[in-house]
Amino acid sequence: MLDLFADEQPWQEPLAPGAVVLRRFALAHVDALLRGIADVVSQSPLRHMVTPGGYTMSVAMTNCGRLGWTTDQNGYLYAPQDPETQRPWPEMPQAFVRLCHAASTAAGYPDFRPDACLINRYAPGAKLSLHQDKDEPDLRAPIVSVSLGLPAIFQFGGLKRNAPLQRLMLEHGDIVVWGGESRLFYHGIAPLKPGYHPVTGECRYNLTFRQASKGE
Ligand code: SIN
Ligand code: FE2
Repeated sequence: MLDLFADEQPWQEPLAPGAVVLRRFALAHVDALLRGIADVVSQSPLRHMVTPGGYTMSVAMTNCGRLGWTTDQNGYLYAPQDPETQRPWPEMPQAFVRLCHAASTAAGYPDFRPDACLINRYAPGAKLSLHQDKDEPDLRAPIVSVSLGLPAIFQFGGLKRNAPLQRLMLEHGDIVVWGGESRLFYHGIAPLKPGYHPVTGECRYNLTFRQASKGE
């Protein structure tokens, strides 16, 4: 595919202690990432998960890697099998592994070894309310979050839900990495504005890499 964006040079913007935005860092990897998404989705389809409270999430999700983030009546969990297909989640594509390693290294977390990658697809109006990523047993590992397609407003707060929020636009190819002091900071995505992106069409994808098992 002709990539109109691939020649933009990446740059970094500090976000909070332990957190940085790697602007356009994923641009050179976009074609391989999209092939990876298509491959994963063909094995474990995107679906709208239902929260333990009975709310159907507006973001469509699937996973790849040894563990996948999912919901059941009791709460949120990481599971080795896709509850829809009753099979293991698809393997993490090599392009995902390579990009995540390059990004975590650039952000100061060279030892990060993700075993879970959540794939989020946002259609217009889809949002992710303010939350903490706290279902992982080892909080020494950071979060690496890759944005593709339509831009979205990312809200990044603090350790308490009512802390002041930074609002930043995440665009095609941007990566946010947060760990250390900001590992448990509240964050969310405002409702996606309708639009058309030449690479993804009328949606935004997000890949969130995590270490979901206990480290040594
Ligand atoms: C998340 O918080 O899990 C996803 C954030 C995003 O879509 O950028
Ligand atoms: Fe999150």
